[in-house]
Amino acid sequence: MDFKTQVAGTTGLAGVGADALLVLVGGQAVPEDLEAPLADALAPAAKDGDFAFKPGHMLYAHRVAGVKSARVVFAALGDGSVKNLRKAVVAALAPLKSGGTKTLAVALSGAGTWTAAMAEGVVAAVAEASYLYRETKPSAAPATKLATVSLVCGKGDAAVLSAALRRGEAIAAGTTLARECANRPANHCTPSFLAEQAKKLGKEHGLKVEVLDRKDCEKLGMGSFLAVAQGSDEPLKFIVAHWNGGAKGDAPVVLVGKGITFDTGGISLKPAAEMDEMKYDMGGAASVLGTLKAVATLKAKVNLIGIIPACENMPSGRAIKPGDVVTSLSGQTIEILNTDAEGRLILCDALTYAERFKPAVVVDIATLTGACVIALGHHRSGLFSPDDALATELLAAGEQAQDPAWRLPLDEEYDEALKSHYADMGNVGGRAGGSITAAKFLQRFTAKLRWAHLDIAGTAWKSGLAKGATGRPVPLLTHFVLARAS
Ligand code: BES
Ligand code: MN
Ligand code: ZN
Repeated sequence: MDFKTQVAGTTGLAGVGADALLVLVGGQAVPEDLEAPLADALAPAAKDGDFAFKPGHMLYAHRVAGVKSARVVFAALGDGSVKNLRKAVVAALAPLKSGGTKTLAVALSGAGTWTAAMAEGVVAAVAEASYLYRETKPSAAPATKLATVSLVCGKGDAAVLSAALRRGEAIAAGTTLARECANRPANHCTPSFLAEQAKKLGKEHGLKVEVLDRKDCEKLGMGSFLAVAQGSDEPLKFIVAHWNGGAKGDAPVVLVGKGITFDTGGISLKPAAEMDEMKYDMGGAASVLGTLKAVATLKAKVNLIGIIPACENMPSGRAIKPGDVVTSLSGQTIEILNTDAEGRLILCDALTYAERFKPAVVVDIATLTGACVIALGHHRSGLFSPDDALATELLAAGEQAQDPAWRLPLDEEYDEALKSHYADMGNVGGRAGGSITAAKFLQRFTAKLRWAHLDIAGTAWKSGLAKGATGRPVPLLTHFVLARAS
């Protein structure tokens, strides 16, 4: 799909020639600046109560007299926020999906002029509404035939908006990659598949990609990561991908993504209900790949390293047992009291591994705890960091990208729960504050780092009717990394 800007001619919006014209309507009444043929179509509908100036409301009209585009959709913008704009675009695309619309022009009326954030929001909304998973269901009909989307804007705005569209497209491509990986079932998306995806990204965008196997991890001493992987017949992969867009000596941003391609819980087996959703337990890894794609597509002047420990968590004759003690790469020992708390066990070794890159900052991203879903639901990701400045940057990136997070605490009092008689720490701390004790566990491996942790258990996928991977938090992470680029 192609996104571009288009400057309206002397005939205004009525003269824009696209298969469909989407007019985003701001304010509480038919806008004064709306050309007569369009206003004449909207006004009666508003009068009859068929169109309300509230976000989510829209009106479809076909072959409006005096309007060149065959289809017109009016969608209310409400307060004009980017959030409402995205809602309006998604609502407006619904009646266009099944029809013959290949080219769409999007215009603002009664809502001032386009901002870069709005342009980016249009791309995100169109990409979200037109994504369809087909990998293992090729019979599914494509959600849309849309090929070109153009923003109708003033001449002076075109350059700024084009740049915003490029950024939006890169984020959308990264988000789509993350969704494609995470939606794939675990018999397709294995650790080896994730490694192949990383190598493919490397070829396409000039990333340096290394993949360590079990022997390499043994040599290094990643006793914790290896312990989780040992129950599975599927070979583990430890993936390291470098985007060297910055100056040579620039300290890199490091992203660490949890890559459990299936989480049965291991010997601490999960209940059967909804266990299929544990194929999404590599959502953190997928978001790292997606962010690398977005950042590399934009050729951002920043050094970015993605680290993905990838394996399955399975019960078997070789699997770890509750009470087993392992030695992590850091040298600290861990008593594995619950084999279902496996994410932290693979992440801790990856965090220690990250030290060798002398990173500017490290952010890990993980579908880590059910407790985070209880705390924050499905709207905001959980953010943990002892570093106020870093936390502020990440929260701001989330707001800008419409991919929000919420900070949770890391007081030392929560660390008590991890005490063990048999090792430096246990891997679980009981039910109370479960997402915080998980973060406290990770924090024990970050003494030498500027570090933050994103728990995306509630945001990486949707359950129920709209079941599927969301691609979050690729938008947040990409904004965060771009803000750090020179
Ligand atoms: N992958 C799960 C976390 C998860 C659960 C994400 C449900 C999304 C929905 C993780 O590995 C896990 O099993 N965590 C346990 C930790 C517990 C044993 C301390 C959990 O949250 O129940
Ligand atoms: Mn688990
Ligand atoms: Zn898990």
